[in-house]
Amino acid sequence: MSALRSVVVGTGSCLPERAVTNAMLAERVETSDEWIVQRTGIRQRHIAADHETTVSLGTGAARAALDAAGLGPADIDLVICATSTPDHTFPATATEIQAALGIGQGAAFDLQAVCAGFVFGVTTADKFLVTGAAKRALVIGAETFSRIVDWEDRTTCVLFGDGAGAVVLEAREDEAGRGVLSSSLRSDGRHRDKLYVDGGPGSTGTVGHLRMEGKEVFRFAVGQVTDVIADAFARAGLGAAELDWFVPHQANRRIIEASADKLGIAREKIVLTVDRHGNTSAASIPLALDVAVRDGRIKVGDLVMIEAIGGGFSWGAALIRW
Ligand code: UT7
Repeated sequence: MSALRSVVVGTGSCLPERAVTNAMLAERVETSDEWIVQRTGIRQRHIAADHETTVSLGTGAARAALDAAGLGPADIDLVICATSTPDHTFPATATEIQAALGIGQGAAFDLQAVCAGFVFGVTTADKFLVTGAAKRALVIGAETFSRIVDWEDRTTCVLFGDGAGAVVLEAREDEAGRGVLSSSLRSDGRHRDKLYVDGGPGSTGTVGHLRMEGKEVFRFAVGQVTDVIADAFARAGLGAAELDWFVPHQANRRIIEASADKLGIAREKIVLTVDRHGNTSAASIPLALDVAVRDGRIKVGDLVMIEAIGGGFSWGAALIRW
C-alpha cells in the first residue's frame, strides 16, 4: 500500500464581469498603457461590481472546480479560503462559501498569507489529507483588492485586480506518483512596512488602504523567492529540467521572468496571466492554473511548480505532479 497523496482532481475560476483596460485607468489617474505594460506586463484587470464580492467570486470558482472534478457538496470535508479581502471581519469567508455550496460537514476556515495565501492553503490542506484527517479539500483563493487599493495612488491602483480560483484536492494512494510532492513556506514579519494595509478592526476600526514600497518588494521578490523553489525541488529530489509548468504568483512579468531565469526554468514553461488578470493576490495562482488546465497545457502527469511572495513578507512554493 502506497502512502496517501493530495491529488488535484478539479480546478475552477470566476472573474468579475467587467474588464478594465490600462487606457480606461488612464482616464482616472495619471498613467499610461505604455508605462503599465512596460513595468508590469499588465494590460487589463477585472474589477468587481457592487454585487460581486469575495464570497460570490469564491463560490463561483469553487463550484466550477467541483463540477470539473465531478463531485458535489457531500464529497467535501475541508474548505480553506485564502483571502486578505473577506466580505466580513467574521465569519470566515470559507464558511460563507461552504454554506453557499450546501456543504454541511467538515471544517472551513480562512488563511491569511496575502499573495502567498494559496500556496499556504495547498500546503495546509495537504497536511490534513496525507494524515487522513480529511478526504477531499476545496482550496480557494478569492480576492477583491479593488476595495482596499487607494484609487488616488497611481503607484498601486494600476497593479491589482479581483477574482477567484479554486482546486479540489483528494487524498489518494496513487501508484502513479501524482499529488503534492513537496512544499516550502517562509515568513519574515520584519518586512511589514514594505507592503501592508493601513487599517484593520484591531487598530483603526476601519478597513484601510494598501500601501507598498514597490521597489523594495520587487528586490526582495527576485532575491528571495528562489529559495523556497529550490527547497521544494530538493525535498522532492527533482530539478528545473524535469519541470513541465511554472505557475508563479502573477504580480509582475519582470519578477516572474527574472525568477525563472535565475532557476534555469525555460521561459516557455511559464504560465503567464498577469496581462489579463493583473495582481489578484491569493487568487492569482489558482486562476492561472485553471486557465492552463482548461486550454490543455497542464495535463495529468505533468510536473507543476507554484510559488508566491506577498505581504508579511510571506512566501512559499509547492511542487505538484498533476
Ligand atoms: O503581490 C506582491 C507584491 N507586489 C509586487 O510584487 C510589486 C513589486 N513591485 C513592482 O512590481 C514595481 O516596483 C512597480 C511596478 C510597482 C513599479 O515599477 P518600478 O520600475 O519599480 O518603478 P518606480 O516605482 O521606480 O517608479 C518609476 C517612475 C517614478 O517616477 P520618477 O520618480 O522616476 O519621476 C514613478 O513616480 O514611474 C512613476 N510611476 C508611474 N508612472 C506612470 C509610478 N507609478 C506610475 C504609474 N504610471 N502608474
